[in-house]
Amino acid sequence: MKKIAILTSGGDAPGMNAAIRAVVRSALYNGLEVMGVQRGYSGLINGELFKMDRASVSDIIHRGGTVLRTARCLEFKKEEVRKEAVKILKDNGVDALVVIGGDGSFTGAKLLSKLGVKTVGIPGTIDNDLTYTDYTIGFDTALNTAIDSIDKVRDTSTSHERVSVVEVMGRDCGDLALYAGLAGGAEYIITPEKGYCKEDLCRVILEGKEKGKIHNLILLAEGVGGAVELAKHVEFQTGIETRATVLGHVQRGGSPSAFDRVLASKMGAKAVEVLLAGKTSRVIGIKQNLIIDQDIDEALALERTFDEELFKIAEEISH
Ligand code: ADP
Ligand code: F6P
Repeated sequence: MKKIAILTSGGDAPGMNAAIRAVVRSALYNGLEVMGVQRGYSGLINGELFKMDRASVSDIIHRGGTVLRTARCLEFKKEEVRKEAVKILKDNGVDALVVIGGDGSFTGAKLLSKLGVKTVGIPGTIDNDLTYTDYTIGFDTALNTAIDSIDKVRDTSTSHERVSVVEVMGRDCGDLALYAGLAGGAEYIITPEKGYCKEDLCRVILEGKEKGKIHNLILLAEGVGGAVELAKHVEFQTGIETRATVLGHVQRGGSPSAFDRVLASKMGAKAVEVLLAGKTSRVIGIKQNLIIDQDIDEALALERTFDEELFKIAEEISH
C-alpha cells in the first residue's frame, strides 16, 4: 500500500474536517501518499483528485463543513459509472479509498470494493442513523446546536405562555429529536420510530396546563409531518397559542464539538491502521467507547434500532 485517496460524500457534518485531517496526517506519518477527491463521488468520476500534504489540512480541525466539499451523485448508482471511477483511481495510482459519509456513501464504497478497490468508511452524518456504531461524527455538534436554539425558544415560549413545536433534522432517524428532546426538557417527543397520536399530544398539553405548566415544548423529527401544520392543529385543538420553529440547516454547520473532534481523530487514525493491516471493505465505528472496525456488508445489513429505554426515561420525566 503506497497511496490512498479520501473523499466526503452525502450531507456534510461538523467534524468531517477533523476526520480528513486525522486520515491525512496518520497516512503521511506511516509513509503513505494521500490524494484528496473533491465533491464526493461526483468529483471522483470527474477526476477531481489532488495531492495532499500536512499543510493541506492545517487549521481545519475546528472548522465546520468539509474542505473537500461534498455532493450527492446519483449516477454513482450505475455500475458503468463506478467502473469509470475504478479506472480513475488506478490511473492515479491509488490503492485504497477512504469514504467519509453516511449509509448512502457507504453503499457506494461497498459497491466499489466489489470492483476490487480497497475501501474503508468513516461515519460522518448528523443523523446518527448507522446501527453498527453508537455515534456518528457530527451528531454531538448538531445536538448541541439544537439545544442552544431550543433553550432560546423556551425563553420566549415561557414569556408568552405558549406551546412551541421545534422541528429537528434526522431524515428517517429520531435520535436527534430524542436526545434534543431529553436534553431540552421537552414535554413531548415525536420520532419516526415511535410515531404519535395527535389526540394524545393535545391531551398531554391540556393536562400540563391544568397542573400549572407555563409552556409546552414539542420536539418533532423531520419527516413525521411538518412543524407548521402541527402547530396549527395544536392551537386549534387546545386553544393555546402555538408557534413552530424549523431548525433546518443550522444543525449541519458550525465548529465541531470537542467530542466530535476527538471521535473524528480516533476514527481517522483507525481507518489508516485498518488499511495498513491489509483489510478492505470495512467501516469504522465506536462501540461501548472502543473504536472498532467491521465488515461493510455486515454493518449495512444491521436492522435499525431505537433507544426505547431513553425514550421511556424522556417520557417519564417530562410530565
Ligand atoms: P449519506 O451518505 O449521508 O447517507 P446519501 O444517501 O445522499 O448520503 O448518499 C450519498 C451518495 O452516496 C449518493 O449521492 C451517491 O453518490 C452514493 N450512493 C448512495 N446510494 C448508493 C447506491 N445504492 N449505490 C451507489 N452509490 C450510492
Ligand atoms: O443526512 C443529513 C441530513 O441533514 C438529513 O438530516 C436531512 O434530511 C438531509 O440531510 C437534508 O439534505 P439536504 O442538505 O440535501 O437538504
